Amino acid sequence: MRHERQVELLKRLKEHQAQRPSPLAPASRINQAEAYTDQARYEAEKQKLFRERPCFIGFSSDLAKPGDYLTADLGAVPIVVLRQKDGQLSGFVNACRHRAAPLVSGRGEKLRHFKCPYHAWTYSTEGKLIGRPNTGSAFDDVPMQNCALHGIAVAEHHGLVFARLQGDGPIDTATAMQGSETELADYGLADYVHFETRMNEWDCNWKLILDTFTESYHIPFLHPETIAPYFTHGYMLCDLFGANPRTIGLKKTVFDEFEKPDEKDWALLPHATVQYFLTPNALVVHQLDHMEVWRVEPLGVGRTRVFTSLYTPPPSQGVKSDNYWRRNLDLLVDVTGTEDFPTMEAIHRNLASGMVPEVVYGQLEPGLINLHASIDRLLAEA
Ligand code: FES
Ligand SMILES: [Fe+2]
Repeated sequence: MRHERQVELLKRLKEHQAQRPSPLAPASRINQAEAYTDQARYEAEKQKLFRERPCFIGFSSDLAKPGDYLTADLGAVPIVVLRQKDGQLSGFVNACRHRAAPLVSGRGEKLRHFKCPYHAWTYSTEGKLIGRPNTGSAFDDVPMQNCALHGIAVAEHHGLVFARLQGDGPIDTATAMQGSETELADYGLADYVHFETRMNEWDCNWKLILDTFTESYHIPFLHPETIAPYFTHGYMLCDLFGANPRTIGLKKTVFDEFEKPDEKDWALLPHATVQYFLTPNALVVHQLDHMEVWRVEPLGVGRTRVFTSLYTPPPSQGVKSDNYWRRNLDLLVDVTGTEDFPTMEAIHRNLASGMVPEVVYGQLEPGLINLHASIDRLLAEA
């Protein structure tokens, strides 16, 4: 984030320093429990948001070299994205054309061809079927050229990779980033290095996972020992890039900046958790000295797979030990996994009970209001 923007945000904070909580949204918003629990609504989200819109998959640096690949699920469809020899990315439905077995899992490198683990049908990295070993003439009435992998749209920009399962034409990455690229471009994400990704599944709607990151109001109550000693809770800087909220959590040390007489010495990033939502499925977070990524895969209306990744800065910015990064990731997964997400599971159970018809997003939760307004608008537009 450029220095001018950091100063602009700090000035906004300074202006509101005296009134807490701040800044407020113009109005509170009521949301219906069904937004989280209704099966028909979930099916619409799966189709309109997760299959027809571009979804964030990972950083370009996850797929730096030819043969590097990443898998993901988009709207419950498994996909694989792969770096070709010419440097371009390709994407396919991760299902063999024989009997639909997945071809690869997780992430990997040096892939020269896809070989199905079930009966060894083999595909080029461009998705063409190139071999059906040990079959003699048994498949001669099913021409090879009719058995290419199903291709999907993939695009990358500013070090971020997006894929879209359905729909015509190439992905316009501006549709996915919604203007947040004006800031995201400045981090040089293509040079960050993947450290580790962890996966967990939770019994709650996917939106409850994202809700966790939209407000700091809960910090002193849900995180009294872990986060509250270090982070403010009455202040969160919230903005909206199109449909993508950006929420900034602030360490208590942020107010030290105002002691510096000259604004050109002010810096926000050393005190901030800057969270860029890439609606619908992810947030990319600049966290003090590294990047974190949260990505959700809805598995059902009340079940969500959550990926947490940590990316280290390019070595030119100084090298820290693996232990240091692992401790960072441990803390992140531990606090969310023992304090935030179990609460979200309990909330989902309450909402699904039928006895709690609605929830309230208060004016002190503008990030939450923005996120749900965006999701509802994208669904309505689709
Ligand atoms: S399912 Fe892939 S070769 Fe049979
Ligand atoms: Fe939290």
